[in-house]
Amino acid sequence: MKKWISIMMASFLAFPVLSGCGSTTGAPADSATPKAAETATKDDTADIVVIGAGGAGMSAAVEATNQGAKVIVLEKMPMVGGNTTRATGGLNAAGTKHQEAAGIKDSQQLYFDDTMKGGHDKNNPELVKVLTTKAKDSVVWLEEMGADLSEVGRAGGASVNRIHRPKGGSAVGPNVVTTLKKVIEEKNIDLRLNNSATEIIKGEDGSVAGVKAKDKDGKEYNITSKAVILATGGFSANQDMVIKYRPDLKGFATTNHPGALGEGITMAEKVNVNLVDMGEIQTHPTVVPDNGVMITEGVRGDGAILINKEGKRFINELLTRDVVSKGILSQTDGVAYLFFDDGLREGLAATEEYFNMGLVTEADSVEELADKIGVDKKEMVSTVEAYNKAVMAKEDKDFQRANMPIQLNKGKLYAIQVTPAIHHTMGGVEINTNAEVVGTDGNLIKGLYAAGEITGGVHGGNRLGGNAMADIITFGRIAGESAAKMVKQ
Ligand code: FAD
Ligand code: SIN
Repeated sequence: MKKWISIMMASFLAFPVLSGCGSTTGAPADSATPKAAETATKDDTADIVVIGAGGAGMSAAVEATNQGAKVIVLEKMPMVGGNTTRATGGLNAAGTKHQEAAGIKDSQQLYFDDTMKGGHDKNNPELVKVLTTKAKDSVVWLEEMGADLSEVGRAGGASVNRIHRPKGGSAVGPNVVTTLKKVIEEKNIDLRLNNSATEIIKGEDGSVAGVKAKDKDGKEYNITSKAVILATGGFSANQDMVIKYRPDLKGFATTNHPGALGEGITMAEKVNVNLVDMGEIQTHPTVVPDNGVMITEGVRGDGAILINKEGKRFINELLTRDVVSKGILSQTDGVAYLFFDDGLREGLAATEEYFNMGLVTEADSVEELADKIGVDKKEMVSTVEAYNKAVMAKEDKDFQRANMPIQLNKGKLYAIQVTPAIHHTMGGVEINTNAEVVGTDGNLIKGLYAAGEITGGVHGGNRLGGNAMADIITFGRIAGESAAKMVKQ
């Protein structure tokens, strides 16, 4: 328990953007809107209440407002963004102008197939169809508001380069969160920071009638509305809840923000919402032990390799997260080292955070690096040589890695020690393709919508890197549109 708390604290401190101090990756400090103080303790009315101001909630709020609905957004934390602010690697989409410009041949069918295969075919194919056909529109939607998703990289389990990120390889989350927050302010949407939803209110006919909320002083108030959109994210930071569904994950650290506690799921259960895939909880393979800082999959996607304490590669680094996590856990001490060079660092701005945080060991030669990290020197030298030859030969005879974009021999050489940590809760509230919520009796709950990591079904048994960002924006927009349509009826 003590270890978990210290990891959570370190993780919180490691991401200055969350504490509103700014960040090299972009999002500005957030401050409570004046509205929160003026209106929070009074009962209120709206067409739609959105619970949670992460990527899904803010997308839903913007889209519902575009459709003419009056929206109130409740956010329990003192800043917007949730886990979305932490997103680093990018957002998947097939058939974008950016892929075309880079000569990447992709299709929505290939994206669908990769997603289903990555999820071990446990995904809801209807939801995956929506995700894979509409993600490219989400890219356009975000870019029209000012986001930058112009660079395309490779993520684990993807057959082609498909993960969209800002130019220069900086983190995607701060870019998207800043964009959505700016639009929320421009549209004068009623966003209430430090305000938690505590209960979904249902009317006598069983349809949604609003929410109970608490302001920053703990005072309770009600908001009456015809629709509620649940966008409270996942529960990776709630150790008890994780262990309830996956006892084998006891003691693992998490990459998540401290607010990822799953209250949305608990609220949903109280109004008889059906939950799916709750045991499907993903670990991210490359997280720094003891502080929970995730090293983006983009590092491997751009060319890094994994080396064990014996100085050897042991896996195709771009297999899916479940497979790579298992691979690392079966090495000595359950850890591995990400190995990369200046060539990679120069193309992936997101790595600068890791240098700023002091997480990277650096050296001028493989021998020196091996000594510094305590890895078998002779083996590490021959591993790196063999890998660089494989890059030249365009064939990885040892592990059949298809994507080997660079040799690792330019400038300084780097290593970061990594181990898996809890990253994404793939199960949650059951929705249909309109983001309408399904009850335990199989019927839709009128007025209740959900989007983002609180939902289950999109990712099945294993989420592909880049698919959560695609999911939250795409289904966030759909939830906003569906709810706005319903309240107009
Ligand atoms: P969140 O962004 O977590 O937002 C939910 C919000 O709801 C939070 O702000 C929370 O405080 C609020 N909330 C919760 N309960 C209440 C309540 N009762 N009342 C009011 N507010 C409440 N995915 C990708 O596809 N690509 C990536 O590159 C990527 N990188 C990642 C890196 C890290 C370190 C992490 C942790 C995740 C990453 N993911 C990535 C996953 C992805 O970021 C998340 O799945 C996604 O952002 C979740 O979005 P969301 O809007 O559903 O939830
Ligand atoms: C990462 O950048 O490795 C995280 C990507 C994701 O969770 O999709």
